[in-house]
Amino acid sequence: MQIIAHRGASGLYPENTLLAIEQALLANADGIEIDVFCVENTLVVIHDENVNRTTNGTGLLQDFTLKQLQQLDAGSGQQVPTLWQVLQLVNNQTLLNIELKGADTIEPLLQLLAKAETELGTDPDKLLISSFNHHLLKKIKTQKPNLKLGALTASLPLDYAVFASELGAWSVNCDKGFINQHMVLDAHQRGLKVWVYTVNDAVTAAKMQQLGVDAIFCNYPQEARGW
Ligand code: G3P
Ligand code: MG
Repeated sequence: MQIIAHRGASGLYPENTLLAIEQALLANADGIEIDVFCVENTLVVIHDENVNRTTNGTGLLQDFTLKQLQQLDAGSGQQVPTLWQVLQLVNNQTLLNIELKGADTIEPLLQLLAKAETELGTDPDKLLISSFNHHLLKKIKTQKPNLKLGALTASLPLDYAVFASELGAWSVNCDKGFINQHMVLDAHQRGLKVWVYTVNDAVTAAKMQQLGVDAIFCNYPQEARGW
């Protein structure tokens, strides 16, 4: 079972920062998950649509300029990084799961990835684009069919593996509270990976292993190796 550093190594370092991502790389995580919004046509790595929880600022992201956002402290003196900075840092060393949060992220993402492929040598095969917004995934499938897609769900809709497979997804990314044996078997039969979030203890990790889950999202990638 693989370990995906959730928001970087966010258990011990400020989530979605370059520091947390560096630490996930040092922990040899099999992948790193980050959350992405669009601010002034630039993709930035942050989980919430406001800055209150993860920075020393307050207010909605949409009310910030990129420059103002970058002046905030995202913890331990870290900035809110851009997706470009993260692509540079990760540099194909491990799989990068980009979770799209904002509905306006598609065009900037496709433009950025085209530039990253040329200028940074970003390998599209080392990317997984996921979202709870399946409309976004459908659009991406039409515009750049070779990108791997993760169909995120926070519940267990009926025939979810059928749906994900029809969407052309590579994986189903499920909440640990809803995953079950049928779901794992059904997804595997359809050639889909099953990734489960967020697993932060040895007992739950063992249960996931038993179910045949392919990867867990974990805030403690270093510690998870010993579970
Ligand atoms: O991608 C897995 C997980 O990150 C989805 O939920 O809210 O932590 O972005 P959330
Ligand atoms: Mg996420």
